[in-house]
Amino acid sequence: MPHRGLLEKYGSLLDLPAHTQTVTLLEGNTPLIPAPHLAREMGGGFELLIKFEGLNPTGSFKDRGMTAAVSEALGRGAATVICASTGNTAASAAAYAARAGLKSIVLIPQGKVAAGKLAGALAYGAQVIQVDGSFDDALSLVVQISEKHPICLVNSINPYRIEGQKTAAFEICDALGTAPDWLCLPVGNAGNITSYWAGFTQYDLLKATGLPHLLGVQAAGAAPLVLGHPVEKPETVATAIRIGRPARGEQALQAAEESRGRIVAATDEQILDMQKTLARLEGIWVEPASAAGLAGLAAELNRGRLEVRAKRVVAVCTGHGLKDPEIVTRALTAPQIVPPKLEALEEAILR
Ligand code: F0G
Repeated sequence: MPHRGLLEKYGSLLDLPAHTQTVTLLEGNTPLIPAPHLAREMGGGFELLIKFEGLNPTGSFKDRGMTAAVSEALGRGAATVICASTGNTAASAAAYAARAGLKSIVLIPQGKVAAGKLAGALAYGAQVIQVDGSFDDALSLVVQISEKHPICLVNSINPYRIEGQKTAAFEICDALGTAPDWLCLPVGNAGNITSYWAGFTQYDLLKATGLPHLLGVQAAGAAPLVLGHPVEKPETVATAIRIGRPARGEQALQAAEESRGRIVAATDEQILDMQKTLARLEGIWVEPASAAGLAGLAAELNRGRLEVRAKRVVAVCTGHGLKDPEIVTRALTAPQIVPPKLEALEEAILR
């Protein structure tokens, strides 16, 4: 049967109101790609699979939650949706709002959003507003304005976002027949780890799929859940997770604990190294934040703090590398230039 989008496929398992009116871009149904070379690089002896969420319609996992949130908003008669975003939520909200015929407004932290995300939000027709502050400041503003005016908030505080994002856990269990032993993923505002845990626990009750341990990974410069207190000035090259006050932080900690997993931090250097290694060894290019889950996994294995021998590990890679091309190009010298002559090309590549 052709894929018709997540609400059609998994709608009966999602707690959405009857008025919900489906808005879909045929999101989800993303592949679980084996990563044997990377597993070997990390010491080997275990199975590693990448859930490549960058293959969603707007290039990130946000489309799972957005199909649900915007469908509910449309059915309720909302005219406008709003969100704060480090970029991916903005692009996704803008695309689904466009498809639903709704207006979208997105607030982003000034100068801290990757080019591909900003371009997306603009292309889909959002009103983009830069806040001279952090993501956390922007989130506080959109919460206040949506309480005061009839504007629908589509950040992951919105419960329907969580409902939609549970489908990633369902897909993994459907593909494998059971839950994996470990699931590692980046953590920013903590909606996604909350959703995965809700999805896995629901599926386990329904289908006895078992439960994974969750390894949530924050960037070291934006690691409130590891430090145990908010971070006033979060800083990381992984701008998607540059968040100091996660809205669902408590639930993330609870998910990590209940799963007998944990939340750890990875440095910017570890994140960028992993981004490069994943692309070079497996042909999978993800944005920096999306490499954080794997970077945390590698660091835990290195420290001997994790035992995965003969186990199955799924790493969630949340967004596509194309979202943030500058991170790669700015670190490189420009490619070599040759005149349009065969000898010059031979000289350049066969030398
Ligand atoms: N990975 C990517 C690529 C993201 O864009 C985000 C969050 C996360 C991971 C973390 O997910 O917030 O559910 O813990 N991006 C949000 C945004 C904040 O505005 O696009 P989370």
